[in-house]
Amino acid sequence: MLPVGIDKISFYTANYYLDLRELACAQGTDPEKYYVGIGQEKMGMPAHDEDIVTMAANAALPLFKDEESKNISTLLFATESGIDQSKAAGVYVHRLLGLNENCRVVELKQACYSATAAVQMACALVARQPEKTVLVIASDVAKYELDSPGEATQGCGAVALLIKANPKILEIDPEVGNYTEDVMDFWRPNYRKTAIVDGKYSTKIYLKSLKKAWEHFSQSSDVRFSDISHFCYHLPFSRMAQKAHKHLSKVNKSSLEVEQTQAQIEDSLLYNKLIGNSYAAALFIGFTSLIENAEQSLAGQKIGFFSYGSGCVAEFFSGTVIEGYRQQLFTQQHKMMLDSRQALNYEEYLSLYHAPDPQSGERIEMPSDTTGGFRLAAIGDHKREYVER
Ligand code: CAA
Repeated sequence: MLPVGIDKISFYTANYYLDLRELACAQGTDPEKYYVGIGQEKMGMPAHDEDIVTMAANAALPLFKDEESKNISTLLFATESGIDQSKAAGVYVHRLLGLNENCRVVELKQACYSATAAVQMACALVARQPEKTVLVIASDVAKYELDSPGEATQGCGAVALLIKANPKILEIDPEVGNYTEDVMDFWRPNYRKTAIVDGKYSTKIYLKSLKKAWEHFSQSSDVRFSDISHFCYHLPFSRMAQKAHKHLSKVNKSSLEVEQTQAQIEDSLLYNKLIGNSYAAALFIGFTSLIENAEQSLAGQKIGFFSYGSGCVAEFFSGTVIEGYRQQLFTQQHKMMLDSRQALNYEEYLSLYHAPDPQSGERIEMPSDTTGGFRLAAIGDHKREYVER
């Protein structure tokens, strides 16, 4: 069987952020609760002319510099902050990116897990037709109630991956471990803009799912815990991954020192600390953070991935980093994007939090604000109008 996996990967986040010190100050909370307790520093906030569609198109744009977009046979769009109950957000992205008319497009949902489902489905499609390329995009805006425990874990981001045969970044192993259980830890009924969350319970069920998915993975794969050099976890906040990795190390009776265990995940957390939760995109932005920030080459090394989507579905899978992967990366571009973002004060954050929401078909022109390549120009007659900036 031909190797299949990630050939290119790029991410995007909004050009505004709120520093969690600013949030803590407005709330009268100790900032260390956020910086240390949950391990987060900043959270990305979309401008009014940005949403999951514009972020997705912006994330995917660099992938097409030398890629013939006509080879994309399928666009799988993973999100849990969808903008329409019927139309897939990927159809707008298909136009904005100029993909060919014979490319199929579909949206997938299962909380933060859906991007992993999309990647696995993409691998299966490519294994069947190795000359094809599948574009997977995950894009989300994480939004909680103001003054709720989840507020400091908001964020936004999109990640785009090209899945190909003979990939140049990561060969994904076919063996996986899955776990599904019908639970109410985090959900968002159709009539709500913000998620409802049973926060403490959600962290417990995350850890339980990790153990269960790992056990299933161990039954189907020859890859042992000690074969894996680095781990990427779903990242609602970076401290969650630290707890998860400690938990998995304990389950596997790992003999590594604390510092060695930390080093296995540290680089994967860097971007998330600056962006916040990006739901479906978070795991793969974490992987991008790892491969773009690890000083030593990861070529030939085994990476373990834990994907978790509340509700809940979880998956553990693995992959091997390919020799020469660094030539495929957009490291400088990503770092410049993060460095050039603008800080918001608390009042500005509140005004972005209350995004326009025309429910009666009235027309609203969005102020031109984003620095990305695409923007949501207006909503009118219940239609969203996207343009190149
Ligand atoms: N200095 C240093 N640390 C401090 C501190 C201070 N001044 N004050 C508090 N802390 C520590 C606490 O001791 C705690 O550490 P431990 O976890 O090690 O006990 C940590 O900071 C957090 O404090 P609290 O437990 O008091 O925080 P909270 O209850 O207000 O909120 C949360 C925590 C419930 C996880 C909340 O952030 C939340 O609801 N988040 C959204 C849900 C979520 O992300 N769940 C994760 C699993 S579900 C998932 O992964 C899917 C998804 O994407 C949502």
